[in-house]
Amino acid sequence: MKLDDIASRLGVPLEDVERVHRLAGDLPSAPLPAKTDAPAILDRLAVRPDDAAEIMEGWPDPDSPLWTPELRWLLDRATAMVRADLGGYGWLPFGPSLPRDRGPAWRHLYVYAYLALIDVVLGYHRDHGVPEDVSWTTLADLGRNLAVDRRMEREGWPVIQSWLTLHVRGGLYELGRLQFHRGDTAVQLHIPESGPLTPEAIDASLDRARAFFPRHFPDEHRTAFSCGSWLLDPQLSEYLPADSNIVRFQRRFELEPYEEPKGIDADVEVLRFVFRTLTTPLDQLPRRTALQRAVIDHLKAGRHWQWRDGRFPI
Ligand SMILES: CC(C)(COP(=O)(O)OP(=O)(O)OC[C@H]1O[C@@H](n2cnc3c(N)ncnc32)[C@H](O)[C@@H]1OP(=O)(O)O)[C@@H](O)C(=O)NCCC(=O)NCCS
Repeated sequence: MKLDDIASRLGVPLEDVERVHRLAGDLPSAPLPAKTDAPAILDRLAVRPDDAAEIMEGWPDPDSPLWTPELRWLLDRATAMVRADLGGYGWLPFGPSLPRDRGPAWRHLYVYAYLALIDVVLGYHRDHGVPEDVSWTTLADLGRNLAVDRRMEREGWPVIQSWLTLHVRGGLYELGRLQFHRGDTAVQLHIPESGPLTPEAIDASLDRARAFFPRHFPDEHRTAFSCGSWLLDPQLSEYLPADSNIVRFQRRFELEPYEEPKGIDADVEVLRFVFRTLTTPLDQLPRRTALQRAVIDHLKAGRHWQWRDGRFPI
């Protein structure tokens, strides 16, 4: 099938299809786990029952009528493309954003790619001596993100599908409260939605990372932890108490000077993480917590949130 036919049948820009084709080359894909094993694997990946049911319903059986040739092409080549970057840790979307309301095969195509890459990344983890419990805890971010996407009425997926290639390339590890991402110049911190951000939980998590990276990636030398987040916006301290977890988290960092946003709209990111919606009008958002009230009042006053980068020595 020609690439422009694939693009038009998928309803996505030709350049996105060309990108997958170019990056995947003729590299091998990876097979999905056996369908009979899938329910247990999804459970280990913390996929909730409603999401698991959809994933099983759309399973790419060889004779499934849901799986048209262009969908099969994309699954195969997107898997190969991500596999080709095993060990990489740059930002890499699985592929073009698909019209996901066309059924479970469309909706979860990149979830099947993720599942196909589980064995591949487990092999990479084994080569680096990463303990199996760290592997599975890390990979179980899939279930957490599918649940978030459901709460977001599927608005979150374009970002989530890009994020999830880090896990299956061995670029990111969840060690206690935080996730740690092998960056170019620093170990980057990410904060999953998994309960309060207490200083004790962070200290314990940072200590694990201090031991983990020299042990499992001895050739990589990073001397700082870094973070890029809406959570580092100093304006939050105008609204939140000094002893709140967010303000105490901020105090760990030395901030980089603020730069005009390039590609990240912090107002949108704040809505994503505080309300799990990108499109609800401000007047209809809940005002239950101090942070929710702060976000709404700040935006209503015509002010903006900032995406800030900061770091501190390991
Ligand atoms: C980071 C996070 C764990 C902090 O939560 P926390 O430990 O409760 O933070 P604080 O103690 O500083 O909370 C201060 C206030 O803000 C509220 N708050 C904090 N995070 C909130 C959130 N994501 N949504 C709504 N309210 C929130 C708290 O309930 C509290 O308000 P209250 O006193 O009225 O109850 C939480 O925001 C979260 O789970 N965020 C999603 C993940 C994320 O943003 N990651 C970073 C991506 S760049």
